[in-house]
Amino acid sequence: MIIKTLELNNFRNYESLSISFSPNVSILYGNNAQGKTNILEALFVAATTKSQKGSRDKDMIRFGEKESHIRVFLEDKDISRKIDMHLRENKSKGVAIDGIPIKKAAELYGLINIISFSPDDLSIIKEGPSERRRFCDMELCQLDKLYMHNITGYMRALDQRNNLLKQIQSNEELKDTLNIWEEQLVSFGSYIIEKRRAFISDINEIAAGLHSVLTEGKEELKIEYVPNTDEGSFKNTLVSTRNRDIALKMTNTGPHRDDIVFMINGEDAKKYGSQGQQRTTALTLKLAEIELVKRRTKNNPVLLLDDVLSELDRNRQIKLLENISGVQTVITCTGLEEFVKQRIKYDKVYRVCNGHISEESLS
Ligand SMILES: Nc1ncnc2c1ncn2[C@@H]1O[C@H](COP(=O)(O)OP(=O)(O)OP(=O)(O)O)[C@@H](O)[C@H]1O
Ligand SMILES: [Mg+2]
Repeated sequence: MIIKTLELNNFRNYESLSISFSPNVSILYGNNAQGKTNILEALFVAATTKSQKGSRDKDMIRFGEKESHIRVFLEDKDISRKIDMHLRENKSKGVAIDGIPIKKAAELYGLINIISFSPDDLSIIKEGPSERRRFCDMELCQLDKLYMHNITGYMRALDQRNNLLKQIQSNEELKDTLNIWEEQLVSFGSYIIEKRRAFISDINEIAAGLHSVLTEGKEELKIEYVPNTDEGSFKNTLVSTRNRDIALKMTNTGPHRDDIVFMINGEDAKKYGSQGQQRTTALTLKLAEIELVKRRTKNNPVLLLDDVLSELDRNRQIKLLENISGVQTVITCTGLEEFVKQRIKYDKVYRVCNGHISEESLS
């Protein structure tokens, strides 16, 4: 499936926009703060209902407006699909596929698998575990509709149990009802743990080879899943640590506390990696994600590269570009510098200026 066209109304700094993409590489270039990332964000939202930057719907509505529309036209061989999204200030967004409203975001997942890569992704390596869980969950939701169902159910049960823990301090009797939520946590959570384990194991296998190539054999990368609990002992731990949870008024066991570690030559990249090593690890991770999506779905993902090329050295730029051949890619950059002109085969190039785009002819 490829993205043919994106149409926007009152989204971020676009009053109205229609832009068509190449099945291969399209480039958006322009000065800072002109609206390049906003276009990628609209594509990401259309594919996943969420912003890759974590923005709220109301922040994406154009200043002074009450609602915004995103329309994306997709094509796969002879099949055409349309996604309509309606962002509203104080209500959840409306989504329709081919004109038919959908009730759950899961119905949207799988139509296109979208992968975004920006300098912010360094946070997956550098920052806290929630960034790593988010990376994992974002991709797993796209790959597996049941995963989305389980994560939503898990978070709901977690909220309920946490609320109950707060109430138990003043009403001991409520202790008896903890069990209901614990059963749910274990049921949803076991699925999450199992899928995360398989995902990280596959990513690790693909990443090992890629990282070795990117670093010319100098670095060995290992990606390990560090579950907070395993499926087998989850229930027992929840029950045996109830008193501690009641005292702390929160649930301290479960996949909401999982982590992933990135080991470079046996050392934790988060603690000991240089900026460059961490950046290369983020690149490896994204390339591995692309490969994994290809393997699992037998389809290519759509790749959004936001401002990353200029941050990579020549060798890594080349490796990145080699790995995305055949993958529909939208690249943003501030200028058509030499490396873009010389190294990227692109089919469409747009100049982005203050919420307007103009297509440039290729010379
Ligand atoms: N809700 C909104 N309504 C109107 N304009 C907005 C809204 N949100 C952001 N903007 C504007 O969008 C612009 C930023 O757009 P964007 O992040 O796409 O820039 P960019 O071209 O990617 O820049 P850079 O090269 O710095 O990354 C800012 O000028 C900001 O004021
Ligand atoms: Mg930007």
